[in-house]
Amino acid sequence: MTKKRVLTGITTTGIPHLGNYVGAIRPAIAAANEQTSGESFLFMADLHALIKCYEPELIHQSSLAIAATWLACGLDPDKVTFYRQSDIPEISELNWIFNCVCAKGLMNRAHAYKAAVDANAAENNTDEDHGISMGLFCYPVLMAADILMFNATHVPVGRDQIQHLEMARDIAARFNHRYKTLFAMPEAVVDEDVALLTGTDGRKMSKSYGNTIALFEPEKKLRKQIMKIVTNSQEPGEPKNPDESTVFDIYRAFADKTEIEHMRQRYLDGISWGDAKQALFERINAELSEPREKYHQLMSNPAQIEEILQAGAEKARRESRVFLAQIRNAVGIRQFS
Ligand code: TRP
Repeated sequence: MTKKRVLTGITTTGIPHLGNYVGAIRPAIAAANEQTSGESFLFMADLHALIKCYEPELIHQSSLAIAATWLACGLDPDKVTFYRQSDIPEISELNWIFNCVCAKGLMNRAHAYKAAVDANAAENNTDEDHGISMGLFCYPVLMAADILMFNATHVPVGRDQIQHLEMARDIAARFNHRYKTLFAMPEAVVDEDVALLTGTDGRKMSKSYGNTIALFEPEKKLRKQIMKIVTNSQEPGEPKNPDESTVFDIYRAFADKTEIEHMRQRYLDGISWGDAKQALFERINAELSEPREKYHQLMSNPAQIEEILQAGAEKARRESRVFLAQIRNAVGIRQFS
């Protein structure tokens, strides 16, 4: 039996916001710290970022901010192998080998690619592949290389990534069948009740809606963003329905059971929106002020982050070098003597 190995990647195209924290960062770190058996790998998918972001400075800044955020939120690099995808050249080489294993037809069926083709059709574009790079088309192959390079067994991802895991299994099976059984079959781990944080306008918090609350902006700015959360126009003293309130929704993601019940009662008793928002601010701030300080410390000392990432890459490469040599050997690429 293969041992349990958890691996996941984060695309470096943005600066983490409160929704990422609640939905991904906090649970992943809690899981990694609780894990008693097996190992976990976490990496920054900066090669994947090139597919959808053509701003070099943003790619660079985003990688730095993401690394600092995860470390500030308690990721322990002694427990988790934490690295940059681009620091592991073996992944890129495996990506090519997999390009030669993977059927083109399989990629034709990828949701992300099909959505891009459909968008072209909807705009009456005569070229159905308009604006689609080979990077986008082959995205799932690189992702398979990320996962299979380390023979991960469990891959925590969002629902939208399930198909990519099916493709990784398909690629692994084809390789195993054609050459030699080297790859384990990875499985997607989708947390069904992962907290989807509500944004300031009441829709799901998402960068594309412009309704996010920043994670590590100064306290004052955090308060200002919270004060901007959209509410109805009920007056102070009027009983409010907590189940129809964005402010309450966000509060729930940060408070424990007793605090939530207490706050629910205050809504029913007619708390003013100003007070409800102030209470939300205080609750979030209590959780974030320590990591925020750590984040800014790290951000002003990128060399320290680099050192951690290089140590992570070295740890990862101790495996990927050996495994890639086996893979090369299996496909017939090896020295004469
Ligand atoms: N595609 C993933 C996402 O957008 C990011 C990613 C890249 C990833 N490589 C991975 C996730 C390997 C898990 C495993 O969320």
